[in-house]
Amino acid sequence: MPSPLRLDPVQETLLLTLYARALDSKAPHPILGDTRSAAVADRIAADTGYDFAKLKLKPSLVTSTALRARKLDDVVRRFVAAHPDAVVVDLGCGLDTRWARCSPPEGVDWYDVDYPAVTELRRQYVSDPTHAVAADVTEPGWAETLPGDRPAVIVADGVLPFLPGDSFRATVRRLTAQLPAGELALNGYTRFAAWAMKYHPSIKALGIAAAQGFDDPHEPEHWDAGLTLAEEQLLTRAPEVAAFPQPLRALTRLVARSTALSRQGTRILRYRF
Ligand SMILES: C[S@@+](CC[C@H](N)C(=O)[O-])C[C@H]1O[C@@H](n2cnc3c(N)ncnc32)[C@H](O)[C@@H]1O
Repeated sequence: MPSPLRLDPVQETLLLTLYARALDSKAPHPILGDTRSAAVADRIAADTGYDFAKLKLKPSLVTSTALRARKLDDVVRRFVAAHPDAVVVDLGCGLDTRWARCSPPEGVDWYDVDYPAVTELRRQYVSDPTHAVAADVTEPGWAETLPGDRPAVIVADGVLPFLPGDSFRATVRRLTAQLPAGELALNGYTRFAAWAMKYHPSIKALGIAAAQGFDDPHEPEHWDAGLTLAEEQLLTRAPEVAAFPQPLRALTRLVARSTALSRQGTRILRYRF
């Protein structure tokens, strides 16, 4: 008898991103090509009877999830190549297989942080040699356990909209107080994009309403976290759009002409601290 997954709706969003990467890996022209995500999703479906079809994933969510993961992987890869003694912190890691995709040098210490229920699931399905931190990222305490004397890259993939109020900035403030120097990279939702998420069929299927975002990419520079914007990448303009299926590719290229509209899509923000 399969035993059902016990995750709350916010935790369940990790299955959306996992399945998006799984579907991308099976596409004729994958953007991320993460076949391990497909294997993990297949095992979860077999073990728990989870119906991934209920998530109603559209091609736009599949491509945007795969593309943002690829761009955030690039940030991590570049950082660990330059700092082979680095610390990597994946905030709200879900069941992402980022460690394997980035294949960091041996001297890197990688921290995967998510709720205890998710950490337990990771133990069953993603056995990477990373440090599992079972915590609510918005709670004080856990960040102080990270090494405070090594360069660090913090990655937050698909997490910002689910952290209530100003808890994301408070979390970042605690992290940059603990970590001496490094980078923060995230997919930064605008307020409109975060608000509009609740009308997305996949988010609706999970019954999630609350969402956070910010418009001006310079806003985090005023969070008292020592952040300086290094880069804003608008993914409608990424070369990988050539691999999007039609008519999504044509639509994305149209949107790419407008910076304002492109900002409402997926953007990767990178900060130095
Ligand atoms: C959309 S999923 C993204 C998961 C992963 N980053 C990925 O790309 O597959 C959002 C993740 O954030 C986690 N999350 C949300 N709020 C959190 C919190 N307060 N503390 C820890 N994890 C949190 C959820 O449990 C979930 O795993």
